[in-house]
Amino acid sequence: MAVFYDYETRQYSLHTANTSYIMQEREGFLVHLYWGKKLGGDCSYMFREQGRAAFSPRMENCEGFILDDIPLEYPCWGRADMRTPALEITNHDGSVIVDPRVVSHRIIKGKPAIKGLPATYAESDDECETLVIELFDPVGGIKVELYYCVFAQRDVITRYASVTNRGEEPVFIDSIASASVDFDSINFGTHCRERNIERAPLKHGRFIMSSRRGASSHVHNPFLILTSPGTDEVSGDAYGFVLVYSGSFSAEIAANQFDTARAVIGLNRESFRWKLEPGEVFTSPECVMSYSGDGLDRLSSNFASLFRERLCRGKYRDIRRPVLLNSWEACYFGFDSERLMLIGDSCAELGIELMVIDDGWFGKRDNDRCSLGDWFVNEKKLPGGIKRISDHLAKKGVKLGIWFEPEMISPDSELYKQHPNWCLHYNNRPRSEGRYQLILDLTRKDVCDYIYDSVAAILREGGISYVKWDFNRNMSEAGSPLLPADRLREVDFRYYLGLYSVLERLVTDFPDVLFESCSGGGGRFDAGMLYYMPQVWTSDDSDAIERLKIQYGTSLVYPMSAMSAHVSASPNHQTGHVTPFDTRFTVALTGSFGYELDPTKLSDEDKNKVRETAAFYKQYGEVFARGDYHRLRDPHSENCSAWCFVSQDKNVCVAGYVLTHVRLYGNNERVALRGLDPDAIYKEKFTGAVYRGDQLMNFGLHAPTTLEFHSILWVLEKQ
Ligand code: DGJ
Repeated sequence: MAVFYDYETRQYSLHTANTSYIMQEREGFLVHLYWGKKLGGDCSYMFREQGRAAFSPRMENCEGFILDDIPLEYPCWGRADMRTPALEITNHDGSVIVDPRVVSHRIIKGKPAIKGLPATYAESDDECETLVIELFDPVGGIKVELYYCVFAQRDVITRYASVTNRGEEPVFIDSIASASVDFDSINFGTHCRERNIERAPLKHGRFIMSSRRGASSHVHNPFLILTSPGTDEVSGDAYGFVLVYSGSFSAEIAANQFDTARAVIGLNRESFRWKLEPGEVFTSPECVMSYSGDGLDRLSSNFASLFRERLCRGKYRDIRRPVLLNSWEACYFGFDSERLMLIGDSCAELGIELMVIDDGWFGKRDNDRCSLGDWFVNEKKLPGGIKRISDHLAKKGVKLGIWFEPEMISPDSELYKQHPNWCLHYNNRPRSEGRYQLILDLTRKDVCDYIYDSVAAILREGGISYVKWDFNRNMSEAGSPLLPADRLREVDFRYYLGLYSVLERLVTDFPDVLFESCSGGGGRFDAGMLYYMPQVWTSDDSDAIERLKIQYGTSLVYPMSAMSAHVSASPNHQTGHVTPFDTRFTVALTGSFGYELDPTKLSDEDKNKVRETAAFYKQYGEVFARGDYHRLRDPHSENCSAWCFVSQDKNVCVAGYVLTHVRLYGNNERVALRGLDPDAIYKEKFTGAVYRGDQLMNFGLHAPTTLEFHSILWVLEKQ
């Protein structure tokens, strides 16, 4: 059992293999007592009424109960807690107050689904236990249910909240967080940012990392990690929060005058307001939380394995992904059937399993100024359609993938001529274009149906095994004229309910298609999208050296199998860096691997390299898809980067090292590996050298120190 309730002390205890999360009901409030290494017993003594009023009011009839100084589980705005709330409600009479108190709880085996929203899941009731605590505010008629889903073996607890209007008049939810956790000290730093990591000490005031862009965004990513000072990969406290949502979010950590800290993560309160009619329920997205007392490596692996195994779904969840070649950096818009078929022939020759036709196959699209929404084949470029190409490729044993950007509409399109009001907009305002395009209004059912129908029609023609689903601008003037004035701040959330419903239909109806999410690279690399699409184009920056930081930061919470990484041409199209093929390959080795170049233009030497590397990935693909990933050297602070993948049975380890900056008289560089069997003997594939696991993990392997951008790849196999 993972969830316990003690009727005498009114203590709720959630236990995982290595952690405990303890709460208690006091004066009807749900008080947070502890989150950290596993412990047992009555924890009531941990509660401390310090009576630190400092201008903060006392609760009625509770001498010493200064709400502003009490660690709360789900703080609500309106009474005497002055810190950031998890829930704010404007009642029908205009009062901004909600004061729900604990009334009951129930413990459920397994994990309920969240209707309409992506979420982690359990495959059997033994994997997870859920505690639901019900609170009620009789004055406002507001019921709040707090869900705590405990994946005991994975050291993960997920949280979300639902609010029901039991009153007789509508109310407005002004803000709703998925999770809030109070810490009794501010002895932390913060970890965040879209995969280029920033670590900052926690100071007084509010640190908010958020997106109001209508997408989780490139700028910030919906996760936050709190670490104690000095926490590294293998030691120290790390508390992680990841939101399962793809729209505007906010993650806040605030420290107050009593040197306590509160983390609040959920929908972005600045762009949200929800009208809740009597009898209606609103449920927040899920927040996944994990604590590690053994540093970041353990924390990352808790998140990564949960997301890989119990967030991603479908037939590709557990298998190695096909080696693919994407046409974008090979030819951009400049292709026709003949050129694609030649590229396809090269794929077959080189062992590439899938060819993707990226942007440019539909409407009259020869550049990025038109045709989004017109999802019919451009017969001028592709006479005979997609089918002709897929048939040609099928004969050679190569599968076909195709690009869509279904949420968008170009003003220069047939669709726009027919439906100029299908985009997000306000009637009396101009419409700002981004990359010459507007965003379709997915709060509308007819628009969602159009998107489903146009993608499904192409997929039903057959021959397509993969879809790249792109999204190339963020939201502005995000109005929806069909919504009444008092519901316009619901657009962001309603948009994502619409998108998720379309995606759910598509992945259900086309279970054999591998979907890859993209938003100009990783502008929507979030746990929400992973529920529908098990991999994401990690970044439009395909430069191997740049990717080191991006992939390092992404690996903090997301699985490597979700990271699409391709060997691109050299010099790189974005940065002009000249990087050896081997380094480009070593960096691209993640759980979903491919090429972003024109194979027909390669030298014979490079063609051989593609052939060898595609074969290598197929041989060791299982290690990349499902192995444990360990960060060994940090490219943000060091002149190199290193990592290793270790198969779950510890029989195979593939490790990579890249030298990013040569220093005169470089260090006597060696890389210590992690996650091996210390007593086992491992043989290195390319040199034949033999090592003990403990040698590899403590002394390590000598790494090159002289050639900038050069790399080394080690493959160690247990003897
Ligand atoms: C942005 C993507 O990230 C690229 O890979 C490519 O698909 C372009 N869009 C196409 O417009």
